[in-house]
Amino acid sequence: MAPHLERSIVAQIVRAGLLAPSGDNCQPWRFVWNERELDLMLVYERAESLYDVQHTASWIALGATITNMRLVARSRGYDVSAELFPRGHGESHAARISFQPMTPHHDPLMSALEARCANRRPYQRTPLTAALRDALLAIARNGPGTSLELVETNQAKRTAAALAARNDQILFENRALHDGLYRWLRWTPQGSGDGMPIGSLELHPVERPGFHLLGSWPVAHTLAACGVTRLLPLRTQRTYQRSAALGLLTVEGQRPEDFVHAGEVLERLWLTSTLQGLAFQPITGMICLLLRCRLAEGQGLSPRHRALVEDTGAQLARVFPALAHRTPIMLFRIGFAAPPTARTPRRPVEDVLSLES
Ligand SMILES: Cc1cc2nc3c(=O)[nH]c(=O)nc-3n(C[C@H](O)[C@H](O)[C@H](O)COP(=O)(O)O)c2cc1C
Repeated sequence: MAPHLERSIVAQIVRAGLLAPSGDNCQPWRFVWNERELDLMLVYERAESLYDVQHTASWIALGATITNMRLVARSRGYDVSAELFPRGHGESHAARISFQPMTPHHDPLMSALEARCANRRPYQRTPLTAALRDALLAIARNGPGTSLELVETNQAKRTAAALAARNDQILFENRALHDGLYRWLRWTPQGSGDGMPIGSLELHPVERPGFHLLGSWPVAHTLAACGVTRLLPLRTQRTYQRSAALGLLTVEGQRPEDFVHAGEVLERLWLTSTLQGLAFQPITGMICLLLRCRLAEGQGLSPRHRALVEDTGAQLARVFPALAHRTPIMLFRIGFAAPPTARTPRRPVEDVLSLES
């Protein structure tokens, strides 16, 4: 017999789920409470992106949501079990979450839920402490089939940063990727909602007008024809290499469940980093494009871009050997930094949670 959860507790659990990261802050989810179980639904229209190949990026985000919901539910005295894809793959019904009474448990990661964020500033080069490095590696090792590789030497960081930054060239040369980015950019601050405030990109004030101009596809297209978009990765590379470490989380297998479970682990890594005062930024566009080549034959990419992605993947695998034989989940960077200039908003709980008796 399922325990009776008050609606206010369900709302708190969903609110914690909403705080999870998602690509471009698209928040591709909807929740349905039927007085016994909580259904977590993927909203396809929000998940449309060339980066979200076969919804893998959404499954990662949904995994992060489940981690957040579990932390809050356990603190309120309910353990969580999540049945993934109860109606089969390809369905929007990603998880059916049920609750079992338990002694309330307050995990220290709870206090990082609100503070966790993507920080796109340059970081200090202060190295990771051994304790922190071990803690992150252990989280990944203890996950289902997940593993983490960290690179911390200047040479390896520089190489990985340069390869990851190549994404920015493709981003401004491929119309679907370009339009996808500008769809989710927000030029004026919002109290609630979705997408990314322009401030969160940490552009220098002199860069903003140019970035605004690049939002016009004809302008981006013309600049690409003149070779200007090839210069964009240089700035990004400089920022990426200003980090204590770059990390690649991988998983065995490539079923949708594998991405969800790895997303759960990713969120634990991110919350742990936050708790320890570390800034964190996914720098994973190139990894998504690599997945597009591996899982969808590079559909949506030009032959030239496909070749660039495959070459980048081969070179990245020399820095992160697991990339050659495991499924990449996320490339990210961590380090010590000032807080981000702007934080992303979230949609209100009442907009995403519906009740079904
Ligand atoms: C699967 C996934 C991929 C992401 N990829 C990138 C990325 O390549 N670059 C980046 O700066 N942020 C990336 N993000 C971070 C999101 O943009 C960020 O989580 C979202 O805007 C919400 O902001 P917050 O994390 O600060 O709450 C990614 C997040 C997820 C879950």
